[in-house]
Amino acid sequence: MRQNENSVIPSLATIVSLCKRRGFVFPSSEIYDGFAAVYDYGHYGVELVSAVKREWWKVMVQLRDDIVGLDSGIFMSPRIWEASGHVAGFSDPLAECKECNARVRVDHLLITIGIAADEKMSEGEINALFRENKDKVKCPTCGKSNFTEARQFNLLVKSNLGNFTGDINKDPVYLRGETCQGIYVNYKNVLASSRVKVPFGIAQIGKAFRNEITARQFIFRTREFEQMEMQYFVHPDQEMAEYEKLRQARWDYYRDLGFNVSNLRWYEHEKLAFYAKRAYDIEYRFPFGFNELEGVHARGDYDLSQHAKHSGVDLTYLDQQTHERYIPHIIESSVGVGRTFLALMCEAYCEEKIEGGTRVVLRFPPKMAPVKVAVFPLVRNRPEIVEIASNVHKSLRRQFMCEFDDNGNIGKRYRRQDEIGTPYCVTVDYTTIDDRTVTIRDRDSMRQERVSLDQLEACLKTKLAI
Ligand code: GAP
Repeated sequence: MRQNENSVIPSLATIVSLCKRRGFVFPSSEIYDGFAAVYDYGHYGVELVSAVKREWWKVMVQLRDDIVGLDSGIFMSPRIWEASGHVAGFSDPLAECKECNARVRVDHLLITIGIAADEKMSEGEINALFRENKDKVKCPTCGKSNFTEARQFNLLVKSNLGNFTGDINKDPVYLRGETCQGIYVNYKNVLASSRVKVPFGIAQIGKAFRNEITARQFIFRTREFEQMEMQYFVHPDQEMAEYEKLRQARWDYYRDLGFNVSNLRWYEHEKLAFYAKRAYDIEYRFPFGFNELEGVHARGDYDLSQHAKHSGVDLTYLDQQTHERYIPHIIESSVGVGRTFLALMCEAYCEEKIEGGTRVVLRFPPKMAPVKVAVFPLVRNRPEIVEIASNVHKSLRRQFMCEFDDNGNIGKRYRRQDEIGTPYCVTVDYTTIDDRTVTIRDRDSMRQERVSLDQLEACLKTKLAI
C-alpha cells in the first residue's frame, strides 16, 4: 500500500485531524462537550468500516469450507460471564491522582518508566510494585506524583436490562465484554444445524463494551468497539499444529491487504493464563509505537469446559468415525475493527511533494477505499458536459460507491479525492462531446488515459479488480 519503504508513519494528530475534517471519525457527543472513549464514524468512515468487515468476512468465512458465521446477542445470561471468569477477574489496576483526581492505569504508568507489570498480577503484587515506584511516575494530566493505592477495577459494563428494582447492582446483566462468548455458548447449535465437523470454526463480528480506565489513543482503545473474532474447534492433539496454521494465515492476511510487513511484528506473551497453551499478538507500528492489533491464542479446553461445568450441559464432541468423545480445544483469532481502521489509515497516509505544493493521498488498496470512483464535469457552464457526467455517475453508482463533484477547479477536486483515497477519477470534458471519450485519472501515478464511454464501466471494473 505504501509507496516506498521510506514512508513514515504519520503522527496521531495528523490522522485524527484528517479523520474529523473529511468525515471519517468524529468524537462522540461533541456538542455536549464530548463523551470519553467513544467515537462516531462519518460518511467515509462507515464505508471504510464496512470494507474492513467485508474483507475479514470474505477471508474468514466466504473462502473457507470449515468456518461458518454467527451473530449472537450483545446481552446474554450473566451466568456466561461468571463461567468465563470475567465477573471475578476481568480487571485492570486503577489508581487515582490525589492532585487532579485523574484515573490512571497503573500498568500503563509503570511502562512509562520501563517497568512491565504483568497483566496477570494480583492486586497485592501490582500494589507492591506501584508503591516501590510511585515517586518516579507522573500523572499524565497534571504531571504530579501523588497517587492513591492501586485497586483492581472490573471492566465489564453493567446494565439494568430486565431489572425493574432501580438497583443496578442487584442481579446485574452485562453488555458483552468480548464477542467470542456468544460463539462458545452456540457451539452445540452450530454443530446440530450445520455440516461442520472438527476441526471447524465459528466467526462473528459485533460490538463489545469495556469500562476502559484510560483511553487516550483515539479509536485504538475505546469503551464501545467492534470485534472480529473466529474461534476454531480442534482435536486436543491438533491444537498446536492448527495454531501455527492460523498464525500464518493471519500474518498473510495483513500482508495481502498491502501492509508493509516492517510495520508488523509478533509479540509472544510470556506469562500465560493457566489454561492457555500459547499466545501471540500481531502488533502494528501505530503512531504511538508498536501495539496490539490482533491476538492469536491457543486456549486449550478452558472455554467449553467452563461452560459445560456452569451450565450442566454436555459440551463434548463425538467423532462419528473414530467414536472418540472429547472436549474440543479452541484456537482464537481476535481483532478490533477500529484498530484495523486506524492501522489502515496510517499505512495508507502519504504526503507527496508535487508541482505547486504537497498533496495528501491515502493509498488504500482499491477494495478498501471508501469511494471507488469520482465523476467530474470539467466545467459547470456547458449543459452537454454536465448532462453526460451526471449520466455517467448515475450509471456507475449502480456498480461502485461513486461520487459526483462539480465544485471548484479540477485540480482541487482531484486533491479532495486523493485525500480520501479514491483510486480513480473520471472527467467529462469538451472532447467528450465530440468523440464520447472521457479521462480516467489514476490516484497513485496521477496519470490520465482516455477511454470511450462504452468501455468505461468494464475498464474500471478491471482496474478495481471487482
Ligand atoms: N476474545 C479475546 C479478546 O477479546 P482482547 O485482547 O481483549 O481478547 C481482542 O481483544 C482484540 O480486540 C484486540 O486485539 C483489539 O484489536 C480489540 N480490542 C480490545 N479492546 C479494545 C478496545 N478497548 N478498543 C478497541 N479495540 C479493542
